[in-house]
Amino acid sequence: MEPKRVAVFSSKPYDKHFLDQANDGQGMQLEYFENRLRKSTMRLAEGYDAVSCFVNDIVDRTVLEHLVSNGIRMIALRCAGFNNVDLEAAKALGVQVARVPGYSPESVAEHTVAMILSLNRRLTKAYNRVKEHNFDLDGLLGFNLQKSTVGIIGTGKIGLATMRALSGFGCRLLCHDPYPSDEAAKLGEYCDLDKIYRESDVISLHCPLTDESYHLINEASIAKMKQGVMLINTSRGALVNAQHALDGMKQGKIGYLGLDVYELEGDIFFRDLSGKVLHDDVFALLLSYPNVLVTGHQGYFTREALTEIGQTTIDNLAAHFEGRVTGNEL
Ligand code: NAI
Repeated sequence: MEPKRVAVFSSKPYDKHFLDQANDGQGMQLEYFENRLRKSTMRLAEGYDAVSCFVNDIVDRTVLEHLVSNGIRMIALRCAGFNNVDLEAAKALGVQVARVPGYSPESVAEHTVAMILSLNRRLTKAYNRVKEHNFDLDGLLGFNLQKSTVGIIGTGKIGLATMRALSGFGCRLLCHDPYPSDEAAKLGEYCDLDKIYRESDVISLHCPLTDESYHLINEASIAKMKQGVMLINTSRGALVNAQHALDGMKQGKIGYLGLDVYELEGDIFFRDLSGKVLHDDVFALLLSYPNVLVTGHQGYFTREALTEIGQTTIDNLAAHFEGRVTGNEL
């Protein structure tokens, strides 16, 4: 039998490394494209049996219809989130979409904690100072995480892993989720969003992007927060209205902002834009603030997570071709 051919979009050398490793012995033919899958690139998928996508590919109805007209009925996402796929259209067109639901939630949780600590103890500033032999501490004052209140919005796999890590620091944990979990309830107190906004020194977002959670953090919610609050988003960019967050920073309401995701990251992240002018003024302004720490969707980027993503993606593809169900189908 001919090997199944898979077009892997938005791929980087590290994706190739971990996917090829997982494909060893499976015998699928993987072809790697750096391009993001979207209307302008969808023709690249012609001649393949399946595609694999990542967070910033835009799999809308037009793209799906093109895939189906070329005999492709499988999209293997290499991520947990799926807000970039028109699932309704996929279902109507008979396209199977599978994701990697639970790869190493600790990878994102630990990155979240790293952002909290870096912002709090001003590590990037300290690093730059010491490099220039400036050992002055003025301006580097932090606060103890112990006994500080951290609000976790979304207590799924990553939110819970973050709560476990933060409970080790002795934080008081508040949390909110429409579907509370017993495990999270043992570590923190479930409450409404208003209480989280009112009482938290640090607020960290771990819910998916949905119609309901879109711009959850906006002018009105920011107004309810403590003066000088630290806001961390390692979930999805559009949970935060970036312009409102910027206004909140200017007013001093938000004292620290940690972003691993950004609403308009699709045109910016996962590429080297050194020396290029950024055309997104809000993003450029945010980057210029000393109390803003931005990383480029790096939360998942650990050896363990990439191994898991590679293995699950390959298994999702193999299952589709073999008519097997994995439970990762959406
Ligand atoms: P999960 O599905 O295990 O948990 C999400 C939780 O959010 C669920 O308990 C759900 O009930 C809750 N939720 C849904 N709507 C909510 C709302 N409006 N308010 C509060 N809670 C709500 O997902 P997991 O694995 O914990 O991932 C969370 C998010 O992290 C993903 O949706 C994804 O967007 C993001 N992510 C970011 C990565 C990164 O590299 N920065 C990597 C992987 C995921």
